[in-house]
Amino acid sequence: MQVLSLIRSRFADVLATWIDDPALLSSTLERIVPSRETHLADYQANVAMPLQKKLGKPPLAIAEELVAGVKLGDICSSVTIAGQGYVNLRLSPEWLSDRLSEALSDPDRLAVSLAATPKTYVVDFSSPNVAKPMHVGHVRSTVIGDAINKILRFLGHRVHSDNHLGDWGTQFGMIIYGYKHFRNQEAFDKAPVAELGRLYRLIQQTISYQDTVSNVPKLEANILKAEQKATDSKQKATDAPKDKKLAKEAASAHQQWLDLQQQRTQALAAIEAATHDLDLLERCKAHPDLGQRVLKETSKLHEGDSENIKLWEAFLPSCKAEIHNVYRRLNVQFDYEYGESYYHDLLPMVVEDLLARSMAVQSDGAICVFLDGYEAPMIVRKQDGAFLYATTDIATAVFREREFAPDVSLYVVDHRQSEHFQKLFDVLRKIGLTHTELKHVSFGTVLGDDGKPFKTRSGTIVGLESLLDEAVERAMQVVCDPERLNRSGAEFSEEDRKNIAETVGIGAIKYADLSHNRTSNYVFDMNKMVLMEGNTAAYIQYSYARTRSILRKALAEGIAQADLGAKKLALVEGPELALGLQLLRFEDMLSQSMSDYLPNMVTEYLFETAKLFSSFYEQCPVLKADSPDVVLARLRLTELTGLTLKKGLELLGIGTVERM
Ligand code: ARG
Repeated sequence: MQVLSLIRSRFADVLATWIDDPALLSSTLERIVPSRETHLADYQANVAMPLQKKLGKPPLAIAEELVAGVKLGDICSSVTIAGQGYVNLRLSPEWLSDRLSEALSDPDRLAVSLAATPKTYVVDFSSPNVAKPMHVGHVRSTVIGDAINKILRFLGHRVHSDNHLGDWGTQFGMIIYGYKHFRNQEAFDKAPVAELGRLYRLIQQTISYQDTVSNVPKLEANILKAEQKATDSKQKATDAPKDKKLAKEAASAHQQWLDLQQQRTQALAAIEAATHDLDLLERCKAHPDLGQRVLKETSKLHEGDSENIKLWEAFLPSCKAEIHNVYRRLNVQFDYEYGESYYHDLLPMVVEDLLARSMAVQSDGAICVFLDGYEAPMIVRKQDGAFLYATTDIATAVFREREFAPDVSLYVVDHRQSEHFQKLFDVLRKIGLTHTELKHVSFGTVLGDDGKPFKTRSGTIVGLESLLDEAVERAMQVVCDPERLNRSGAEFSEEDRKNIAETVGIGAIKYADLSHNRTSNYVFDMNKMVLMEGNTAAYIQYSYARTRSILRKALAEGIAQADLGAKKLALVEGPELALGLQLLRFEDMLSQSMSDYLPNMVTEYLFETAKLFSSFYEQCPVLKADSPDVVLARLRLTELTGLTLKKGLELLGIGTVERM
């Protein structure tokens, strides 16, 4: 039930006779909101004051006319005016109880309606580069994307989820080169992905060292230039001491000079450190310009060189299998997993098409699209003929348009790619993909406690799996602490405990990720995320298990399932009504969370619900209530709370256990 839209539509019946302008009408209706002052109202309409000018009447008079005209008799027990013309609404306990009874009789959907006009979505998420260590950033994309995917489906939309695997990029050039020159055959036969990971890091380290060395002379030259500039700017600023702009310029020139010096210090330190790494120095001597050699292997692969294609075909399945292990563990599935390689044959056409439309031009031998508002163009073909990430994304969008005709296309990707997506969307609109709303659902960086991007211990996909193991282990310590379980009086088998720890541990990682507004960075803190207090998965999962234990106890005490099954609720006391109102808002909350794709609205809702349940349970005895009717009513409220918590977690991809 969309309560807010219902209330707004009742107000609209009156307001539409006063306001012709549809935009003003809808912005006025948006001023009808859930009340923050819950002791005064459930909902509040703050529309009278803003309409004062338009209607030429004092707000109080407007509010009075509104209250006289609006038909809310069935929904509200009181409609009153406060202050300068706020309209306060209290829902009628009977109406509220009836709606909750409906939800309880529909345990699968909790009476959440299906979208009246379903849309078609493509959700591009997870999308790691295979053969390269998967990092926590990809977990973030996976977890946020999966939640969005599940919520949209639940709301009745058509969703195509696509894991746009990076299975065709430079990293393959790296491992192909590494395999040809540095492989340990025995290690490869035993554990191919681990060996490929080692080769990847070996090549990366070597290239990075060579780049550092070759960059030093350039750095030196830049430092001299920066020093000159800093001196000049300082002189100018000293000559005109009142000129703030010059002073600022001088400060920034000085800073640039310092930054470059620091870069040189770091570079020299890295070079110094490498003097003891004889293997590295040996490798550099035998494989000069390794970056170029790797690019050569990549372009040979793209041109269809049979040896490289064979290697790629040999590597890909095990790389994918490794990634699929993580998905299995996280319980995430995709409809499609085309991957970048799927679009390879379409890329020349993309470039031809852009040239034919005069959108792309030759520039220094490369083919580029220049876009207003950006310094750097979008390169779609490099001098050496290689296509790029952006070229593939254009081909992918065109393909999706043909295949799915989406109304909305979501890209759940790291915020560092925001310029890429802005440019991509510009190009796509220019080539006519105007029907689809394109949206970069960006997210911030996962940080370690040092404030730097979080790295798993070994920086590898194996590291990622061990991170999941660690969360499960911690969950076992916290939740399955023998003393704690003993106190609960119930028997937990070894298997029960394993299951609880897995559900809580994986849930903890997902929930921690989802509970931060996706646009901000967040600090990965394993200690906090497995706790049973606060805004954590374990707290919500525990609240759910508590509802189940109350219901089990009721059945054990002889309350018949059939009595529980009669789905009538009757809410009377304050804490019952507060919890009931919160449960009624489930659908409003879900659809709001999808207006800007913010799963943290769901976690906030679940946290609030669990807290309201806890105060209800403290203040309103359930099994020891005064009359059998009240016992039943409270048991039903408990059951609906449990169903709502479970469904909410399920939509976030998080599991529950019946006892913990
Ligand atoms: N593979 C990319 C990376 O790891 C992310 C791909 C996102 N999706 C897309 N259509 N560009 O950075």
